[in-house]
Amino acid sequence: MNAHDSERIKGMLEDIGLGEASAPDDADVLVFNTCTIREKPDTRLAAHLGNAKALKERDPERVVAVGGCYAEAQRDRIFSQYPFVDVAFGPGSIPHLAEWLGAGGHGVSRSAFGIAEERRFAATLPTHRERSFQAWVQVSMGCNSKCAYCIVPSVRGREVSRRPGEIVAEVTRLASEGVKEITLLGQNVNSWGRDLRPDLDTEFGELLRACDAVDGIERIRFTSPHPKDFRDPVIAAIAECAAVCEHVHLPLQSGSTRILKAMRRTYSRERYVALAAKLRASIPDLAVGTDIIVGFPGETETDFAETLEVVEEVGYDSAYTFVYSPRAGTEAAEMPDQVPDEVKHERIERLVELVQRVAAERNLSRVGAVEEVLVEGTSRTDAAKLRGRTRRNTTVNFVGAAAPGELVHVEIHAASSTTLSGRQAALVAA
Ligand code: 5AD
Ligand code: SF4
Repeated sequence: MNAHDSERIKGMLEDIGLGEASAPDDADVLVFNTCTIREKPDTRLAAHLGNAKALKERDPERVVAVGGCYAEAQRDRIFSQYPFVDVAFGPGSIPHLAEWLGAGGHGVSRSAFGIAEERRFAATLPTHRERSFQAWVQVSMGCNSKCAYCIVPSVRGREVSRRPGEIVAEVTRLASEGVKEITLLGQNVNSWGRDLRPDLDTEFGELLRACDAVDGIERIRFTSPHPKDFRDPVIAAIAECAAVCEHVHLPLQSGSTRILKAMRRTYSRERYVALAAKLRASIPDLAVGTDIIVGFPGETETDFAETLEVVEEVGYDSAYTFVYSPRAGTEAAEMPDQVPDEVKHERIERLVELVQRVAAERNLSRVGAVEEVLVEGTSRTDAAKLRGRTRRNTTVNFVGAAAPGELVHVEIHAASSTTLSGRQAALVAA
């Protein structure tokens, strides 16, 4: 969501005549789009702002703007901590950034925290897309869950869904511009629609079907769903819609029912595992990814062992793993029994090792298969090869001849825990 907001910020700045500078040194206006989900991005921002301060000392006319979730969490404190910042704004206020910066960065209201009357979708703004054939489509903003570790609800507010007609119109326009792959975005993407027509139960499965019906869209992804909102119509839509990819991100967070309860995730280990099994049984060839937090307050060795068990049981194709990071103002930050850093780090090492072993086994089972790959560019590790992604969302490095944006078939010859490699099928035949 943060990356998508950055595209909107860029598009908007271009609209008021501010193009992208090749380096921070050359920029008249520096805009930082922050994240605050864990402590690490906060630390990185502090380093970036140190550089911005030095640049501004050299040229006091330079404008420094700080947006995003960290700005929203800090509000006016940004200015006492970083007095050289001119404008700060939260993620719901992106549509107003142009007013605050003024044409070409002139007429800036200095040391002001931009507070818009109401949060608005950035979705209606111009976008600067990195790739012409892939696009994010924001379907909702905010989150109504109360996960005890998470700062998102307090910085992005309560959930508001975009109207289905508006979303489908955007997808149709994107398809006419040559977009082949869309990723529907929401903090809790599959609870989309509850606030729109509760009487008619507008639900995410219907939205998937409506997007699938748009000509030219070859691949549909969505992130991030919550296990509690994976009802049967959503599963049926994924299984039946040709464009919806065989990949589901299913955030586990913890494998211990006791910890899940303390996290307020509203499902148990058993319900989660049953859901994963149902998804795999209903959607042939499904890849399952996840998010896992280690070291949530009160997590014992037994709780952690349950997380490891679930990783083996579900057999994730990929997983993002995080050390629990206390966020000021969240329920978990105040809980007793915070887990010592050494324990957290020792546990995450064990978790990462298992996740890699399981994912490597899953990827190895693809060797010999022919996968449909959407070409994204040149391989990051070998300039002679191409890189793309399968419908199951695995990166493939391959020998081939195709342009970014093309769909090609690749015969898979080898696998690691995160990537596949192979050769384009037409070339194999040749
Ligand atoms: N500490 C560690 N990880 C967190 N996440 C969210 N909040 C925290 C936190 N305080 C993780 C969750 C979520 C992902 C986007 O980030 O796993 O799914
Ligand atoms: Fe945070 Fe939970 Fe909402 Fe996800 S569902 S954004 S983890 S509160």
